[in-house]
Amino acid sequence: MSLSSFLAQFDPAQEIEYSWTPPSSWYIEKDFLRAEIEHLFNNHWLYLGSAQELKQPGDFVTYQVVNQPVVVTRGQDDRIRAFYNVCRHHAACVASGKGNTEVLTCPYHGWAYRLDGSLRKAPRLGKLENFNAKEFGLVEIALEIWGGLMFCHFGAPTQSVAQLYPGLGDFLQPADLESLNFEVRREYTLECNWKVFVDNYLDGGYHVEYLHPDLAAGLDLDNYETLIRTNFSIQQCKSAENDARLGRGAVYAFLYPNVMFNRYGDILDINLVLPQGPDRCLVIFDYFFAPHCSREFIEKSLQSSHQVQLEDVGICESVQRGLKSRGYDKGRYAPRIELGELHFAKMLYSTLAEGSGFIHPNQLSHQ
Ligand code: FES
Ligand SMILES: [Fe+2]
Repeated sequence: MSLSSFLAQFDPAQEIEYSWTPPSSWYIEKDFLRAEIEHLFNNHWLYLGSAQELKQPGDFVTYQVVNQPVVVTRGQDDRIRAFYNVCRHHAACVASGKGNTEVLTCPYHGWAYRLDGSLRKAPRLGKLENFNAKEFGLVEIALEIWGGLMFCHFGAPTQSVAQLYPGLGDFLQPADLESLNFEVRREYTLECNWKVFVDNYLDGGYHVEYLHPDLAAGLDLDNYETLIRTNFSIQQCKSAENDARLGRGAVYAFLYPNVMFNRYGDILDINLVLPQGPDRCLVIFDYFFAPHCSREFIEKSLQSSHQVQLEDVGICESVQRGLKSRGYDKGRYAPRIELGELHFAKMLYSTLAEGSGFIHPNQLSHQ
């Protein structure tokens, strides 16, 4: 199915009271995911992880971002750089896991790269024509650090992370985020399309009362509000009384396309959603805590969060099975609640339409 046929099935001009969700084909078809990778993931700032992983010169960390292997290093010059983690000889991954080193040595034939990416050694290469070792360094990727958090871009960024999300700092101050300690990364594989997880996150707290009764008890759901901004949306909720874990309330920021910053009490948890196929995704949780938090508090928080996550995993996988059913194609939105979800669908539509030069038939008829 062509991308234009997928896009024609969603009308981005509709107000939420009239709007349908995107059709299930957006969530189950390989061709649609292929278009998302080309126009969205390969051409957008994407969250990688905490820069606290790279405190010392020589530190390196590897990531798999959709289908791109990435290695981030802190050089002897103290600079943090990102590269495709792909050897220039025959494409093996040069680094794995994380660690501290002076050179990254490819495990296949031993080509060695300095932390600034340059090729230091290519063993037993002999005389080679038309070969300039200076041009055979690891290929660098655009990297930016905002609030101590690293973002990379596989294309050519035309704006900074701060410009992409104007006003985000009013809700999440970079200095506040930097004051928290990175604790741990946890990963969950879900048998659902990556957007099912995002939609679930953006439903304005609609599901909390039913799916997360323990969490609901700590939140004042009548005061849940959603704010729509350029390339991000905010869901805020005050906590009932003064909940020990949630503090005075929660700010849930969704940064298009695939990252959520959840800031509550002494905690920041970041959720990163990475497609692994049309009906599979990896959800990564990065947890940060204020320096004064006790071990007991941290363990308890991680446990409650894990519980909430399991509840979300179950329902997301159930939705994916439903999306594949002949009994469902598209649904509707609760107008005062699910604004973030429609905003997400419209942003995705715009990215894909602009990337492919698509103009909606309804727009043509209005011209
Ligand atoms: S692929 Fe890396 S040295 Fe051959
Ligand atoms: Fe949830």
